Amino acid sequence: MDKCKVIITGRVLPSVLELIQKHCQVYQWEQTRSPLLSDITEWLNDAEGLFVTMNMPVNEQLLTLAPKLRVIVQEAVGYDNIDVPACTRRRIPFCNTPGVLVETTADLAFGLLLTAARRIHEGWEWVRAGNWQNGTQFPLGVDLYNKTLGIVGMGSIGSAVAKRGQACGMKVIYHNRKRLPVQDSFQAEYRGFDELLTEADFIVVLTPLTAETRGMFGAKEFARMKPTAYFVNAARGAVVDTEALYNALASKQIAYAALDVTDPEPLPGDHPLLQLPNILVVPHIGSATTETRIRMGMLAAENLLLGLDGRPLVTCVNP
Ligand code: DGY
Repeated sequence: MDKCKVIITGRVLPSVLELIQKHCQVYQWEQTRSPLLSDITEWLNDAEGLFVTMNMPVNEQLLTLAPKLRVIVQEAVGYDNIDVPACTRRRIPFCNTPGVLVETTADLAFGLLLTAARRIHEGWEWVRAGNWQNGTQFPLGVDLYNKTLGIVGMGSIGSAVAKRGQACGMKVIYHNRKRLPVQDSFQAEYRGFDELLTEADFIVVLTPLTAETRGMFGAKEFARMKPTAYFVNAARGAVVDTEALYNALASKQIAYAALDVTDPEPLPGDHPLLQLPNILVVPHIGSATTETRIRMGMLAAENLLLGLDGRPLVTCVNP
């Protein structure tokens, strides 16, 4: 019997590829950059399954070129790159990988906060540059203890970050579209968005990118923050107006930013943000550990095979 044809839009771990190849004929995009639609057009005509990596956009244009598609899976929890209503109109189930990357992403978000506050990355560069021997003094950082951590987007990852903050003696406040029942809020106190901006010493953004959250942090919001505020984005780059963030950092309207995600992404090496002294940027590595990437890849592969078999997906986004 012919194997189902499946496209994988980037590299995946060998165990994940092996599982898919056991059941499917795989067309895989192997370059490190995300493919353009034109790179995979030829494969789309025959594809019955699509395994999305690297946030490749899945929109009407792609779906029109793929008349045989029966299932789409994405190895990520965020899915702002997927036109879910368009998938639903074509009765194509779509699934992401929630749950399996919560603690890993929380580690990275909190790690960015701690690294920026204590200037760990700058200390390493300073030692490597031979400054320790010269007796020059390393600039002081700031404490987490007794400070207020403001979490914007208190879902499962936000809650995991809240626990890390509490373990460091921080008071935690949060803002969400919906206020959480007390028993689900991990002793974090709810605040209106403006209140959180003015009260928090550290702001960690973990909200999904939607029409409502796009550009949520602009000039007005940075102006409300304390001049000593640290701003961490581990959500999606486009939640923040990049130019406004640049201006806020350059004019010292806020103290520091630490970003796992940027807009644009990837951030070009000569981008003005990277010239600033008060910023730390890492290349979207929130879920990038071996254990978690195996869990994400296996969950996505399992859903792909279920979908090809016409069975319900484990983590289906569309009804
Ligand atoms: C996600 O899963 O959405 C993360 O951003 C990927 O690292």
